[in-house]
Amino acid sequence: MYEYQQSGRYFAQVADDIKDIAEAELIELGAAETSYSYRGIYFNANPESLYRINLQSRLINRVLAPLKTFDCHSDNYLYKVGQQIHWEDFMTPDQTLAIFASVTQSNINHSKYAALRLKDAIIDYFRDRDGERPSIDTRNPDLWLNVYIEKNVATISVDTSGGSLHRRGYRMQSTQAPMSETLAASIIRYAEWDGQTPLYDPLCGSGTLLCEAYLMATKTPSANRRNKFGFERLPDFDSALWTKIKKDANSNIASISNNLIQGSDIDLKVVQIAQKNSSIIDPAAQIKIIQKDMFNIEKLQDTTIVCNPPYGVRMQNKMNLSDFYKNIGDFLKQRCTNSTAFIYFGEREYIKNIGLKSSKKWVLSNGGLDGRLVKYVLY
Ligand SMILES: C[S@@+](CC[C@H](N)C(=O)[O-])C[C@H]1O[C@@H](n2cnc3c(N)ncnc32)[C@H](O)[C@@H]1O
Repeated sequence: MYEYQQSGRYFAQVADDIKDIAEAELIELGAAETSYSYRGIYFNANPESLYRINLQSRLINRVLAPLKTFDCHSDNYLYKVGQQIHWEDFMTPDQTLAIFASVTQSNINHSKYAALRLKDAIIDYFRDRDGERPSIDTRNPDLWLNVYIEKNVATISVDTSGGSLHRRGYRMQSTQAPMSETLAASIIRYAEWDGQTPLYDPLCGSGTLLCEAYLMATKTPSANRRNKFGFERLPDFDSALWTKIKKDANSNIASISNNLIQGSDIDLKVVQIAQKNSSIIDPAAQIKIIQKDMFNIEKLQDTTIVCNPPYGVRMQNKMNLSDFYKNIGDFLKQRCTNSTAFIYFGEREYIKNIGLKSSKKWVLSNGGLDGRLVKYVLY
């Protein structure tokens, strides 16, 4: 029996800033006994919840199922334990694999070396057993493995998601500074958008916030477009249960009213990309995206406004960013009565330029940037 089978315990990799909402989401999807750790949350789940979490979570990056945890003081010992696992339970030698490692405060101090030793162990295991060896594919392998070594304690896990869940499959083309799908989903979640009030992104770029809002409002599973998951490689994978989980989730998909989710951007090329991306998840074109300068929008009343203004770039019309953010503040004050705005600042120094009293702030990092999400209630 593997460790995850004995304990029913898994590890969800998630950004540290959003653990509160990720934990709530995990519990909604059936997880129990959650506990925080560095860059993730441990939780208990039965197979049904494990499949559902992978299919529906909008906030977590991947779920790891531990196979074995052991004291590991040398790369030779990692190799030795790596050879003791019955890898034929997970794959055949004609399939491909990828191994991701992270190490901290341990005798093995290079993550790439840890991954290499485990890879050697698995390849030698199959070569001795079958005379054939699996090959490596780091982009789209059949089996994704993870090895984590902290203070000389190693855990070898299967990535039950089969690659990061932020790849929803709708972003075929991307623009200059797109935000990650999980960051966009966390903004929609922090906004506590009810899926009924009109939602508008006046600086929509590639449309990530609009697409995540659409997935949420329609209750579309975020991994609907993914054609394989890592948990399908587990020896106890229950294909009938998985079919039922998918069917149940799909039967909950709801339609939304026209004009519920809208956005615009000043750049026509970017608008075309956003339209293309959104059409992948929304073939009925309920998400409306047009070209428009934000400052030409007449009004946005009774609306949930979400956006991510430019940062770290020179404005095309030579306006500096401080003035641009000041204009956003004026726009919100003058034309957005009875609305609530959630502005994501890639650089928090511009918050002061908005000139409006905020009602809440969240620290939300984005690819190394120390960003902030700020809520403004507009009367
Ligand atoms: C940081 S990007 C938004 C990224 C977006 N959240 C995404 O996921 O792709 C900022 C966007 O603001 C747009 N923009 C800049 N000035 C604008 C204006 N005056 N009116 C409308 N859009 C504008 C840019 O074209 C750019 O696409």
